[in-house]
Amino acid sequence: MTQRILSGIQPTGRFHWGNYFGAIRQYIDLQNGQETAFYFIANLHALTTVRDRERLAQNTLDAALDLLALGLDPQQATLFVQSDVPEISELCWILMTGTPMGLLERCHAFKDKKSKGLNADAGLFAYPVLMAADILLYDSNLVPVGEDQIQHIEVARDIASSFNHTFGSETSPVFVLPAAKIVKDTAKVPGLDGGKMSKSYNNTVEVFEDLKVQRKKIMGIVTDSRPMEEPKDPDGDHLFELYSLFASSTQVADLAETYKKGGFGYGSVKKELANLAEAFFVEARNRRTELAAKPDQVREILAEGASRARKKAQEVLGRVKKACGVSY
Ligand code: TRP
Repeated sequence: MTQRILSGIQPTGRFHWGNYFGAIRQYIDLQNGQETAFYFIANLHALTTVRDRERLAQNTLDAALDLLALGLDPQQATLFVQSDVPEISELCWILMTGTPMGLLERCHAFKDKKSKGLNADAGLFAYPVLMAADILLYDSNLVPVGEDQIQHIEVARDIASSFNHTFGSETSPVFVLPAAKIVKDTAKVPGLDGGKMSKSYNNTVEVFEDLKVQRKKIMGIVTDSRPMEEPKDPDGDHLFELYSLFASSTQVADLAETYKKGGFGYGSVKKELANLAEAFFVEARNRRTELAAKPDQVREILAEGASRARKKAQEVLGRVKKACGVSY
Protein backbone atom coordinates (compact mmCIF):
# COMPACT_ATOMS: atom_id res chain seq x y z
CA MET A 1 0.00 0.00 0.00
CA THR A 2 1.24 3.47 -0.74
CA GLN A 3 2.31 5.43 2.26
CA ARG A 4 0.55 8.73 2.65
CA ILE A 5 3.05 11.37 3.58
CA LEU A 6 2.12 14.74 4.98
CA SER A 7 3.87 17.74 6.42
CA GLY A 8 3.09 21.37 7.07
CA ILE A 9 5.27 24.45 7.09
CA GLN A 10 4.31 27.67 8.80
CA PRO A 11 4.57 30.83 6.70
CA THR A 12 6.02 32.97 9.47
CA GLY A 13 8.75 34.52 7.32
CA ARG A 14 11.11 33.79 4.46
CA PHE A 15 12.91 30.44 4.54
CA HIS A 16 16.54 30.43 5.59
CA TRP A 17 19.39 27.96 5.14
CA GLY A 18 18.46 26.23 8.40
CA ASN A 19 14.91 25.57 7.13
CA TYR A 20 16.21 24.32 3.82
CA PHE A 21 18.96 21.95 4.95
CA GLY A 22 17.16 20.98 8.17
CA ALA A 23 13.76 20.16 6.68
CA ILE A 24 12.60 21.37 3.27
CA ARG A 25 15.23 19.48 1.33
CA GLN A 26 14.22 16.21 2.99
CA TYR A 27 10.50 16.83 2.41
CA ILE A 28 11.13 17.40 -1.26
CA ASP A 29 13.16 14.19 -1.45
CA LEU A 30 10.10 12.28 -0.23
CA GLN A 31 7.89 13.25 -3.16
CA ASN A 32 6.76 9.94 -4.49
CA GLY A 33 5.18 10.73 -7.82
CA GLN A 34 1.81 9.44 -6.69
CA GLU A 35 0.37 12.65 -5.40
CA THR A 36 0.07 11.04 -1.99
CA ALA A 37 2.77 13.25 -0.54
CA PHE A 38 0.81 16.20 0.82
CA TYR A 39 2.61 19.42 1.75
CA PHE A 40 0.72 22.40 2.98
CA ILE A 41 1.37 25.91 4.09
CA ALA A 42 0.05 26.16 7.63
CA ASN A 43 -1.41 29.67 7.54
CA LEU A 44 -3.99 28.99 10.25
CA HIS A 45 -1.19 27.99 12.59
CA ALA A 46 0.81 31.06 11.58
CA LEU A 47 -2.15 33.22 12.52
CA THR A 48 -1.29 32.49 16.16
CA THR A 49 1.87 34.57 15.70
CA VAL A 50 1.60 36.68 12.55
CA ARG A 51 -1.02 39.27 13.41
CA ASP A 52 -0.69 41.39 10.28
CA ARG A 53 -3.01 40.89 7.34
CA GLU A 54 -0.62 41.85 4.55
CA ARG A 55 2.30 40.01 5.99
CA LEU A 56 0.42 36.74 6.48
CA ALA A 57 -1.04 36.84 2.96
CA GLN A 58 2.32 37.72 1.41
CA ASN A 59 4.21 35.12 3.46
CA THR A 60 1.77 32.47 2.28
CA LEU A 61 2.38 33.18 -1.40
CA ASP A 62 6.10 33.56 -0.80
CA ALA A 63 6.22 30.17 0.90
CA ALA A 64 4.52 28.60 -2.11
CA LEU A 65 6.94 30.28 -4.50
CA ASP A 66 9.95 29.26 -2.42
CA LEU A 67 8.85 25.63 -2.18
CA LEU A 68 8.10 25.35 -5.89
CA ALA A 69 11.38 27.04 -6.79
CA LEU A 70 13.28 24.69 -4.48
CA GLY A 71 11.95 21.65 -6.30
CA LEU A 72 8.57 20.77 -4.91
CA ASP A 73 6.91 19.40 -8.02
CA PRO A 74 3.12 19.66 -8.20
CA GLN A 75 3.08 16.65 -10.54
CA GLN A 76 4.79 14.53 -7.92
CA ALA A 77 3.25 15.86 -4.73
CA THR A 78 0.26 17.87 -3.63
CA LEU A 79 0.90 21.43 -2.46
CA PHE A 80 -1.89 23.45 -0.88
CA VAL A 81 -2.72 26.10 1.66
CA GLN A 82 -4.19 24.83 4.94
CA SER A 83 -7.15 27.22 4.98
CA ASP A 84 -8.18 26.24 1.44
CA VAL A 85 -9.48 22.99 2.92
CA PRO A 86 -12.19 24.29 5.28
CA GLU A 87 -12.93 20.73 6.46
CA ILE A 88 -9.91 21.20 8.72
CA SER A 89 -11.78 23.49 11.09
CA GLU A 90 -14.69 21.10 11.36
CA LEU A 91 -12.46 18.17 12.20
CA CYS A 92 -10.49 20.31 14.63
CA TRP A 93 -13.65 21.03 16.63
CA ILE A 94 -14.69 17.40 16.68
CA LEU A 95 -11.26 16.39 17.96
CA MET A 96 -11.26 19.18 20.51
CA THR A 97 -14.31 17.67 22.21
CA GLY A 98 -12.30 14.60 23.14
CA THR A 99 -8.95 16.16 23.97
CA PRO A 100 -8.06 16.31 27.67
CA MET A 101 -6.92 19.75 28.87
CA GLY A 102 -3.99 18.14 30.65
CA LEU A 103 -2.64 16.77 27.39
CA LEU A 104 -2.46 20.28 25.95
CA GLU A 105 -1.15 21.85 29.14
CA ARG A 106 1.91 19.63 28.82
CA CYS A 107 2.69 20.75 25.25
CA HIS A 108 5.85 22.80 25.07
CA ALA A 109 4.77 25.82 23.03
CA PHE A 110 2.01 26.59 25.49
CA LYS A 111 4.06 25.63 28.55
CA ASP A 112 7.02 27.80 27.51
CA LYS A 113 4.84 30.82 26.99
CA LYS A 114 3.09 30.37 30.31
CA SER A 115 6.32 29.83 32.18
CA LYS A 116 7.54 33.16 30.85
CA GLY A 117 4.48 34.72 32.42
CA LEU A 118 3.04 35.64 29.00
CA ASN A 119 -0.64 35.42 28.21
CA ALA A 120 -1.40 32.54 25.91
CA ASP A 121 -4.54 32.57 23.81
CA ALA A 122 -6.86 29.67 23.09
CA GLY A 123 -5.33 29.35 19.60
CA LEU A 124 -1.91 28.61 20.97
CA PHE A 125 -3.39 26.25 23.52
CA ALA A 126 -5.32 24.33 20.86
CA TYR A 127 -2.47 24.48 18.34
CA PRO A 128 -1.67 20.75 18.74
CA VAL A 129 -5.31 19.80 18.09
CA LEU A 130 -5.32 21.70 14.80
CA MET A 131 -2.09 19.93 13.96
CA ALA A 132 -3.65 16.57 14.82
CA ALA A 133 -6.55 17.46 12.52
CA ASP A 134 -4.07 18.32 9.74
CA ILE A 135 -2.58 14.88 10.02
CA LEU A 136 -5.71 12.81 10.59
CA LEU A 137 -7.83 14.51 7.93
CA TYR A 138 -5.79 12.89 5.16
CA ASP A 139 -5.21 9.40 6.59
CA SER A 140 -1.51 10.25 6.81
CA ASN A 141 0.83 7.39 7.62
CA LEU A 142 4.11 9.25 7.80
CA VAL A 143 4.77 12.75 8.96
CA PRO A 144 8.29 14.04 8.25
CA VAL A 145 9.17 16.63 10.89
CA GLY A 146 12.08 17.93 12.90
CA GLU A 147 12.70 16.72 16.44
CA ASP A 148 10.87 19.64 17.99
CA GLN A 149 7.58 18.37 16.55
CA ILE A 150 7.69 14.80 17.92
CA GLN A 151 5.53 15.75 20.89
CA HIS A 152 2.84 17.06 18.55
CA ILE A 153 2.76 13.82 16.55
CA GLU A 154 2.35 11.92 19.79
CA VAL A 155 -0.60 14.11 20.69
CA ALA A 156 -2.12 13.35 17.28
CA ARG A 157 -1.71 9.63 17.92
CA ASP A 158 -3.25 9.94 21.39
CA ILE A 159 -6.23 11.86 20.08
CA ALA A 160 -6.70 9.40 17.22
CA SER A 161 -6.54 6.27 19.34
CA SER A 162 -8.88 7.63 21.95
CA PHE A 163 -11.37 8.58 19.22
CA ASN A 164 -10.99 5.12 17.72
CA HIS A 165 -11.57 3.60 21.13
CA THR A 166 -14.76 5.58 21.68
CA PHE A 167 -16.26 5.49 18.20
CA GLY A 168 -14.53 2.83 16.15
CA SER A 169 -14.27 -0.87 16.38
CA GLU A 170 -11.28 -3.14 16.34
CA THR A 171 -11.99 -4.11 12.76
CA SER A 172 -12.83 -0.67 11.48
CA PRO A 173 -10.88 2.08 13.20
CA VAL A 174 -11.94 5.60 12.24
CA PHE A 175 -8.49 7.12 12.08
CA VAL A 176 -5.20 5.91 10.70
CA LEU A 177 -2.52 6.19 13.39
CA PRO A 178 0.30 8.36 12.04
CA ALA A 179 4.00 7.95 12.73
CA ALA A 180 6.65 10.64 12.81
CA LYS A 181 9.48 10.36 10.36
CA ILE A 182 12.23 12.31 11.97
CA VAL A 183 14.25 14.13 9.40
CA LYS A 184 17.73 13.74 10.68
CA ASP A 185 19.56 16.94 11.26
CA THR A 186 22.38 15.48 9.19
CA ALA A 187 23.16 18.99 8.23
CA LYS A 188 23.94 21.02 11.29
CA VAL A 189 23.19 24.55 10.25
CA PRO A 190 24.82 27.13 12.47
CA GLY A 191 23.86 30.78 12.26
CA LEU A 192 26.06 33.80 11.57
CA ASP A 193 27.00 33.99 15.26
CA GLY A 194 27.77 30.28 15.64
CA GLY A 195 24.53 29.44 17.52
CA LYS A 196 21.78 27.37 15.89
CA MET A 197 20.41 29.22 12.84
CA SER A 198 16.98 30.48 13.81
CA LYS A 199 14.80 33.42 13.03
CA SER A 200 14.36 34.12 16.72
CA TYR A 201 18.13 34.57 17.13
CA ASN A 202 18.35 36.94 14.19
CA ASN A 203 21.34 35.07 12.78
CA THR A 204 19.91 33.70 9.53
CA VAL A 205 20.75 33.85 5.86
CA GLU A 206 17.62 33.61 3.75
CA VAL A 207 17.68 31.24 0.79
CA PHE A 208 16.48 33.87 -1.67
CA GLU A 209 17.89 36.93 -0.01
CA ASP A 210 19.17 39.71 -2.26
CA LEU A 211 22.66 38.56 -3.23
CA LYS A 212 24.39 41.73 -2.08
CA VAL A 213 22.73 41.56 1.31
CA GLN A 214 23.52 37.86 1.50
CA ARG A 215 27.21 38.45 0.74
CA LYS A 216 27.41 41.17 3.33
CA LYS A 217 25.91 38.88 5.96
CA ILE A 218 28.33 36.09 5.06
CA MET A 219 31.28 38.46 5.33
CA GLY A 220 29.98 39.33 8.78
CA ILE A 221 30.05 35.75 10.12
CA VAL A 222 31.58 35.90 13.58
CA THR A 223 35.11 34.44 13.67
CA ASP A 224 37.91 34.56 16.21
CA SER A 225 40.92 36.84 16.09
CA ARG A 226 43.71 34.29 16.24
CA PRO A 227 46.64 35.12 13.93
CA MET A 228 46.42 33.82 10.37
CA GLU A 229 49.44 31.55 10.69
CA GLU A 230 48.01 29.60 13.59
CA PRO A 231 46.63 26.13 12.70
CA LYS A 232 42.87 25.81 13.33
CA ASP A 233 40.59 22.89 14.08
CA PRO A 234 37.83 22.54 11.46
CA ASP A 235 35.72 20.38 13.84
CA GLY A 236 33.01 22.47 15.42
CA ASP A 237 34.04 25.60 13.50
CA HIS A 238 30.80 27.16 12.28
CA LEU A 239 32.31 28.84 9.22
CA PHE A 240 33.68 25.46 8.21
CA GLU A 241 30.30 23.83 8.83
CA LEU A 242 28.49 26.38 6.70
CA TYR A 243 31.05 25.94 3.94
CA SER A 244 30.54 22.17 4.08
CA LEU A 245 26.83 22.55 3.29
CA PHE A 246 27.62 23.89 -0.16
CA ALA A 247 31.03 22.50 -1.07
CA SER A 248 31.92 19.21 -2.77
CA SER A 249 33.65 16.58 -0.65
CA THR A 250 37.02 17.41 -2.25
CA GLN A 251 36.55 21.07 -1.47
CA VAL A 252 35.64 20.20 2.13
CA ALA A 253 38.72 17.99 2.49
CA ASP A 254 40.92 20.72 1.02
CA LEU A 255 39.60 23.33 3.38
CA ALA A 256 40.09 20.97 6.34
CA GLU A 257 43.76 20.66 5.31
CA THR A 258 44.10 24.41 5.05
CA TYR A 259 42.60 24.87 8.51
CA LYS A 260 45.02 22.37 10.02
CA LYS A 261 48.03 23.95 8.33
CA GLY A 262 47.11 27.51 9.18
CA GLY A 263 48.24 30.47 7.10
CA PHE A 264 44.89 31.54 5.68
CA GLY A 265 42.39 34.30 6.33
CA TYR A 266 38.78 33.74 7.32
CA GLY A 267 37.84 36.46 4.82
CA SER A 268 38.85 34.33 1.87
CA VAL A 269 36.84 31.38 3.20
CA LYS A 270 33.79 33.62 3.57
CA LYS A 271 34.16 34.88 0.01
CA GLU A 272 34.38 31.35 -1.27
CA LEU A 273 31.33 30.39 0.83
CA ALA A 274 29.35 33.28 -0.70
CA ASN A 275 30.30 32.12 -4.21
CA LEU A 276 29.38 28.50 -3.50
CA ALA A 277 26.06 29.39 -1.90
CA GLU A 278 25.17 31.63 -4.81
CA ALA A 279 25.96 28.86 -7.30
CA PHE A 280 24.14 26.22 -5.21
CA PHE A 281 20.82 28.08 -5.39
CA VAL A 282 21.25 29.74 -8.77
CA GLU A 283 18.76 27.52 -10.60
CA ALA A 284 16.20 27.74 -7.83
CA ARG A 285 16.64 31.49 -7.81
CA ASN A 286 15.99 31.68 -11.55
CA ARG A 287 12.95 29.44 -11.23
CA ARG A 288 11.65 31.64 -8.47
CA THR A 289 12.01 34.77 -10.59
CA GLU A 290 10.14 33.08 -13.44
CA LEU A 291 7.35 31.89 -11.15
CA ALA A 292 7.04 35.23 -9.39
CA ALA A 293 6.24 36.75 -12.78
CA LYS A 294 3.34 34.30 -13.17
CA PRO A 295 1.32 34.64 -9.97
CA ASP A 296 -1.77 33.20 -11.67
CA GLN A 297 0.06 30.00 -12.37
CA VAL A 298 1.07 29.70 -8.72
CA ARG A 299 -2.50 30.30 -7.58
CA GLU A 300 -3.63 27.64 -10.02
CA ILE A 301 -1.17 25.13 -8.60
CA LEU A 302 -2.45 25.88 -5.09
CA ALA A 303 -6.08 25.60 -6.19
CA GLU A 304 -5.44 22.28 -7.89
CA GLY A 305 -3.59 21.06 -4.78
CA ALA A 306 -6.45 22.13 -2.54
CA SER A 307 -8.98 20.35 -4.67
CA ARG A 308 -7.02 17.10 -4.53
CA ALA A 309 -6.59 17.48 -0.78
CA ARG A 310 -10.27 18.32 -0.27
CA LYS A 311 -11.36 15.18 -2.01
CA LYS A 312 -9.51 13.09 0.54
CA ALA A 313 -10.56 15.40 3.38
CA GLN A 314 -14.24 15.04 2.58
CA GLU A 315 -13.98 11.28 2.48
CA VAL A 316 -12.32 11.14 5.89
CA LEU A 317 -14.53 13.78 7.49
CA GLY A 318 -17.62 11.91 6.25
CA ARG A 319 -16.35 8.79 7.98
CA VAL A 320 -15.68 10.71 11.20
CA LYS A 321 -19.07 12.44 11.31
CA LYS A 322 -20.82 9.18 10.79
CA ALA A 323 -18.78 7.48 13.48
CA CYS A 324 -19.57 10.04 16.17
CA GLY A 325 -23.19 10.74 15.25
CA VAL A 326 -22.77 14.25 13.87
CA SER A 327 -24.24 12.94 10.62
CA TYR A 328 -27.80 11.86 11.30
N1 TRP B 1 3.77 22.80 13.78
C1 TRP B 1 4.59 22.58 12.64
C2 TRP B 1 5.86 23.43 12.75
O1 TRP B 1 5.82 24.48 13.35
C3 TRP B 1 3.87 22.92 11.36
C4 TRP B 1 2.70 22.04 11.14
C5 TRP B 1 1.38 22.37 11.22
C6 TRP B 1 2.74 20.64 10.80
N2 TRP B 1 0.60 21.30 10.97
C7 TRP B 1 1.39 20.22 10.70
C8 TRP B 1 3.80 19.74 10.58
C9 TRP B 1 1.08 18.89 10.39
C10 TRP B 1 3.47 18.42 10.27
C11 TRP B 1 2.11 18.00 10.19
O2 TRP B 1 6.86 23.05 12.20
